[in-house]
Amino acid sequence: CHVTTPSGGSVALPTICSQETFDDAINFKFSENDVIIRTYPKSGTTWMMNIIYLITHHGKPIPGGTFLEDHFLFCETSGKERLLHHQGSPFRFFQTHIHADHMKFNKLSKYVCVVRNPKDVCVSFFHHTNALKDLYGVTEMDFVSYFQLFVEGKTDFGSYFDHVTAALSHRDDANILFILYEDMLADTRSAVLKVARFLGQDYLEQVQDEDVMKSVLEHSSFAAMFKNKEQLSHTTRDDVCAVIRKGIVGDWKSFMTQQQAGIIDEMTRKHELDHLWKDFQ
Ligand code: A3P
Repeated sequence: CHVTTPSGGSVALPTICSQETFDDAINFKFSENDVIIRTYPKSGTTWMMNIIYLITHHGKPIPGGTFLEDHFLFCETSGKERLLHHQGSPFRFFQTHIHADHMKFNKLSKYVCVVRNPKDVCVSFFHHTNALKDLYGVTEMDFVSYFQLFVEGKTDFGSYFDHVTAALSHRDDANILFILYEDMLADTRSAVLKVARFLGQDYLEQVQDEDVMKSVLEHSSFAAMFKNKEQLSHTTRDDVCAVIRKGIVGDWKSFMTQQQAGIIDEMTRKHELDHLWKDFQ
């Protein structure tokens, strides 16, 4: 569906969102107890949700019978009442893909922004959209058509480049942590330490205990998450999981032509984002 933004523009959202739930999300007053994971889709949101849950629960996985999404409310589908009544101590957890210009960062809450290279995001989003075509009421797409939508910024949640640029303009804010998916994958332990430090000294000390760290790493590994995909992702349908799929860097090489990759590289340079991945060429 398309919703109207506060500036009078329009943005495409999955059909599970509505103008009402979008408005509720952008008007919601977050507090100092709130931790919000903020990403462009397919950037490692679910992985970060699970890591944060584990860090804040002594490395213990989410309880049986609950879904990860029960612990991290998805802002744009929740509605006012659910957002207001969401509980959590000491933190309430949320996640959102709404553009930072539409849902502003506040100065009180803690935000964790995961950023992933656009070529892998495009390929991952392509698979996601096809895997959930029944849920979204769309027909199956070939990669050429999807690629075109992606570079034109016509996918759900709008342009990757606008989205990431708007978020990164806040990179110096003390209450916002930016982390690259590629860095998380290259050195998950360091990423866990970084997130724990950001959440507070207590959590840092807890994950410095090797048993807790081991448990966090074990339960957040791709293999463990894949095994437990029904609990970690509401979007698993007929055993096809759109959010715990392959979990590698460079999957784009199997899908994009050199010309397509060149188009995205050029857009990445134009938006001055290329420096982010200089270590991952
Ligand atoms: P791929 O489709 O490239 O495999 P999001 O949660 O924002 O939708 O992101 C989904 C992407 O994160 C998928 O990428 C998924 O496989 C990857 N992912 C999920 N869990 C992961 C993990 N534990 N380690 C590495 N990547 C993971």
